[in-house]
Amino acid sequence: MAQTQEALIPTKDAFSRKAHVKSLEDYQRLYQRSIQQPEAFWSEMAEQLTWFHKPDAIMDLDAEQVDFSWFGGGKLNAAYNCIDRHATERPGKVAIIWAKNEPGEYESITYRDLQHHVGRVANVLKAHGVRKGDRVCIYLPMVPELAYTMLACARIGAVHSVVFAGFSSEALRERILDSGAKVLITANEGPRGPKFVPTKAIADEAVEGLSLVESILVVRRTGKEVPMLAGRDYWLDAEMAKHRGVCPAEWMDSEDPLFILYTSGSTGKPKGVLHTTGGYLVYAATTFRYVFDIQPEDVYFCAADLGWVTGHSYILYGPLMNGTTTVMFESTPTFPDAGRLWRVVDDLKATILYTAPTALRSLIKEGDAWVKKSSRQSLRLLGSVGEPINPEVWRWYHDVVGEGRCPVVDTWWQTETGGILIAPLPGATPTKPGSATLPFFGVEPVLVDDEGRVIEGNGVSGNLCLARSWPGQARTLYGHHQRFKETYYARFPNLYFTGDGCRRDEDGYYWITGRVDDVLNVSGHRLGTAEVESALVAHEAVAEAAVVGFPHDLKGTGVCAFVTVKPDWQESASEQMVGALKEQVRHVIGPIATPDRVVLVNGLPKTRSGKILRRMLRKIASGEVENLGDASTLADPSVLDELLAKATPPQ
Ligand code: WT7
Repeated sequence: MAQTQEALIPTKDAFSRKAHVKSLEDYQRLYQRSIQQPEAFWSEMAEQLTWFHKPDAIMDLDAEQVDFSWFGGGKLNAAYNCIDRHATERPGKVAIIWAKNEPGEYESITYRDLQHHVGRVANVLKAHGVRKGDRVCIYLPMVPELAYTMLACARIGAVHSVVFAGFSSEALRERILDSGAKVLITANEGPRGPKFVPTKAIADEAVEGLSLVESILVVRRTGKEVPMLAGRDYWLDAEMAKHRGVCPAEWMDSEDPLFILYTSGSTGKPKGVLHTTGGYLVYAATTFRYVFDIQPEDVYFCAADLGWVTGHSYILYGPLMNGTTTVMFESTPTFPDAGRLWRVVDDLKATILYTAPTALRSLIKEGDAWVKKSSRQSLRLLGSVGEPINPEVWRWYHDVVGEGRCPVVDTWWQTETGGILIAPLPGATPTKPGSATLPFFGVEPVLVDDEGRVIEGNGVSGNLCLARSWPGQARTLYGHHQRFKETYYARFPNLYFTGDGCRRDEDGYYWITGRVDDVLNVSGHRLGTAEVESALVAHEAVAEAAVVGFPHDLKGTGVCAFVTVKPDWQESASEQMVGALKEQVRHVIGPIATPDRVVLVNGLPKTRSGKILRRMLRKIASGEVENLGDASTLADPSVLDELLAKATPPQ
């Protein structure tokens, strides 16, 4: 107990005075109300949106069918809520600041500009045959058109499916097919740091031979010429010039789909997480307002990419619904040097920074001088997302970046949750370095043991589940509702299973300990071990592959692949083979999935029934070789010697 108290970082008075929620008692009161009277609470929160028709009901939950409806009977439009009401009230306010890849280059887009651009793109989409309910795949780097096209889809009731521009052509193709997208939007190329991602060339490869995709709209990001197929490929700027900037907003039902976003699971196939309109928007707007304690003058800088859920909820929808100025950052934290984030903060006078521990770790490595030579006086709040933040990294963020002045909010959530579920409210919640602290309003975390028994009380650990629904939760996996039920609701009946392990300490604070399933969190990105394995076995030389994670200084978790090669290939030089297999994964999934280590072995550790002992491999890859478990369960105990000799991590 003494120890946990010692680690408690009190709220900062100057911050609390102006905050939406000013004390822990205020938080607790609101939280209790949200749990005891969820309908009254969420109905009040829904009032911050503009509804064409107010909801008739607040929640309607069918636990049996895993069918959740929020704000039933309500009619609204996401783009209208993000743009029109602000464009009317304060047209000249900056909605988006685009921080280009080139250091020091910025473009400001006001709410009025945004309205015109989005209206034009919406009309272009209609002219290309996109109707309400149709899916549009967006494969763009961090250019303003990425925001325009997402909002244009929302405006006409089309469902956007954004695919991060770091994914390979095969990954893109799989996602286009699964969502049935008839229009694809890409760019001629995308500058990112010192490199240019050939997005159009990748898109061409992805749709080769597919009749499904009728049009490809191409953003002109650079002067680069790319092949354009007549009758299929169109420059977006030329198309926009043909259309008016006025496009009526479609009246959408609360439960009409807003977007699909693919994420990794424990099987080889990515999951198309589907979010609907009313609940998602209410949840994103509410969490954004409270967790970042948003004030009218904020310049909010989230350094993530719109291709991930963090970007959807907390670069685009959450900020714009609140009428905030949001930054779109096209570059990376280390380009051209480790001072880049602080330069953007100072140039734009950013008040809030939201980034991932992996980015912070890569900056810590470069030394404090990069931070200290910047001013950062504009900053008032720091946020972390995507993976557990090590207490030392938390302290560096708080002490060095924030000079002890800015609260740090560690926010735990997932693609499926739509928005933040566990996080401190700055100004109200005392923090502890490394803990996501306490649940957001309406959220009820439950810890469960492996047998499904709920673990009560404090000072306990278990599988993190959630009781009850919250408005932002995903409704299904696109086209695969059965898989949705099985993935999230089968393991522990009536509870949503997150896939994370968690500790609730003596003070009731939550500490996420990482994934307990076959999902790896690599640099804050989710990766299924099965996905990497199927990419490897698709290589002609590979007989079998087993992929595990191991602790990695920068990435949090590194990827280690144990591979056996087919007899015909055993003579190949191993260095070349390792290189070819890394390239294989890059090619099939994308650079983020590239294994850090590929270990070629003659045999994998299996039980007599042929099951691969992953736990043993995980320990070997992590260098925890003392306690490998019972080797007598192995069908062939001799494989162990080879594994130990080859796979002990380099010191
Ligand atoms: C997984 C979800 C949340 C948006 C970006 C990632 C891990 C996320 C935290 C955090 C510890 C975290 C979990 C989760 N995670 N935030 N603050 N502390 N772990 O979304 O790709 O859907 O991944 O990321 O393991 O399950 P995602």
